Amino acid sequence: MLDESLRSLIALHGVGETRSGGILIVDDEQPNLTVLRNFLEAGYRVHEAQAGEQALEIARVADLDVVITDQRMPEMTGVELLEQIRDLKPDVAGIVLTGFTDPPALISAINRARVFRFLKKPWQPDDILEAVRQASEHVYQTRAIRKLVGLLAKRTDELDASLVQVRSAQSQLLHLERLGTMGKLAAGVVHDLRNLMVSLGYVESVLEQRGVAPDVMESVQVGMQGVGNLIHTLETMHQFARGGTLTIQKAMLQPSLVVNDALAIARMDMSFRAHKVAVTIEEGLPPVHGDRQKLTQVLVNLVRNAVQATAQWRQIGVEASRKNGHVVFAVEDEGPGVSAAVRENLFKPFVSSKGEGGMGMGLYMAKLIIDSHQGEIAVLDRPSGGARFEVRLQPAEESP
Ligand SMILES: Nc1ncnc2c1ncn2[C@@H]1O[C@H](COP(=O)(O)OP(=O)(O)OP(=O)(O)O)[C@@H](O)[C@H]1O
Ligand SMILES: [Mg+2]
Repeated sequence: MLDESLRSLIALHGVGETRSGGILIVDDEQPNLTVLRNFLEAGYRVHEAQAGEQALEIARVADLDVVITDQRMPEMTGVELLEQIRDLKPDVAGIVLTGFTDPPALISAINRARVFRFLKKPWQPDDILEAVRQASEHVYQTRAIRKLVGLLAKRTDELDASLVQVRSAQSQLLHLERLGTMGKLAAGVVHDLRNLMVSLGYVESVLEQRGVAPDVMESVQVGMQGVGNLIHTLETMHQFARGGTLTIQKAMLQPSLVVNDALAIARMDMSFRAHKVAVTIEEGLPPVHGDRQKLTQVLVNLVRNAVQATAQWRQIGVEASRKNGHVVFAVEDEGPGVSAAVRENLFKPFVSSKGEGGMGMGLYMAKLIIDSHQGEIAVLDRPSGGARFEVRLQPAEESP
C-alpha cells in the first residue's frame, strides 16, 4: 500500500493514472486462454498469445501493465518469457501459473525474472483477479514514483534557478535599502548646509557693508559656491534614492564651461592644489545638450579620484576634446591605475577600495548622470601607467 504522504505528494504534483489497463495472457492451450479472458475482460484490455515469441511481439507494441503466463510451454517457459519482457518493459508485473512444485528452482526463477506472483494450478478465478489487482496496483505505484522523482528533479532545477533570481533581487534590494538610508542622511545634511548658507550669506553682506578687501570677499564667495554645489550634489543623491531617477535640466552647453566649473570647485580642495594640473581644451568644440551642474559634478568626482590616487606633485590631466564624432571629457592621472579587485564593479554603488575614506558613490553617481545624458563613461589604462576616465557625449545639434 502507498504511504499516505506519498499518495498526497502524487496528488499534489498531478501525477495521475500511470496504468494502461492492458493485460497479456499467455498459454499454449487455447481453452485456458478463453477461460482467463472471460473473467478478466470486464476490467482490463486483454491481449493473448499461445507461445513465447508471439507474446514478445505483442509486448513490443502494446501498452501493458501485467503479463499472466503459463510456466510450462514448449520452446519458452513462462519465467524465460518474463525475463525477456523485462528487458522490453521493465515496469510490467508478471504472474506465473504453474503446477511445477520445486521450491529452490522457483525461488531462483522468481529472482531472475523478478516475477510478481506464482499461482499454483488449479487456480480459482478470485485468486487470479486478486493477484492481477495487486500486480496492477504495484505497477501503478512503481510508475507513479518514477514519474514523481522525475517531476521533483525538474522542479528542483526550477527552484534552483528561481533561488538564483531571488538572491540577486535580494542583493539589489539591499543596495536600494542602503541607498534609501543614504538618501535620508543626505536630506539631513542638506538641511544643515542650508542653515550654514544662511549664515554665510549674512557674513557676506556684513563684509560687503564694511568694504573688506576684494580677495577676502572672493574667498567667501568661493566658499559659498562650494557649499551651494555640495547642497546640489546631496540633493541629487536624495532625489535619486527616493525615486530611483535623476531629474536632468538640459541646456546648450559649451564643454569648456563644464571643465572650468569643475576646476573651480576642485581648487577648493587643498590636496588638488598639491598636484600639477594640465588642462587641455580643444579649440572649436561643439556644444553638448546637458545639465551643467550635474556634468560638472561628474568631472569633479573624476578629478577627486585622480587626486586621491596620485602622490603629491604628480600630474593630473583634465581635457575636453573631440574624438570619433563625440565630445570627450577625460581625467587622467599618474597613480597605480584601477585595481583588479574593484574594476568589475567600478560603477556600482558602495564599491570602494578606500575604506573609511570613500563611500563608493562617486563613480556610481557619475554613471547615473552620464546614462541620463545617453552618453558613456569608461576607464582606460594609460600606456605610461595610471588611469584615464573618459566621458563621451553626443554633440548637440547645432542650430543654424
Ligand atoms: N583614478 C583612479 N585610480 C585608481 N583607482 C580609482 C580611480 N578612480 C576610482 N578608482 C577606484 O574606484 C573606486 C570607486 O571610486 P568611487 O569614486 O566610486 O568611490 P570612492 O572614491 O572610493 O568613494 P567616494 O567617491 O564615494 O568618496 C575607488 O575606491 C578606487 O578603488
Ligand atoms: Mg570617488
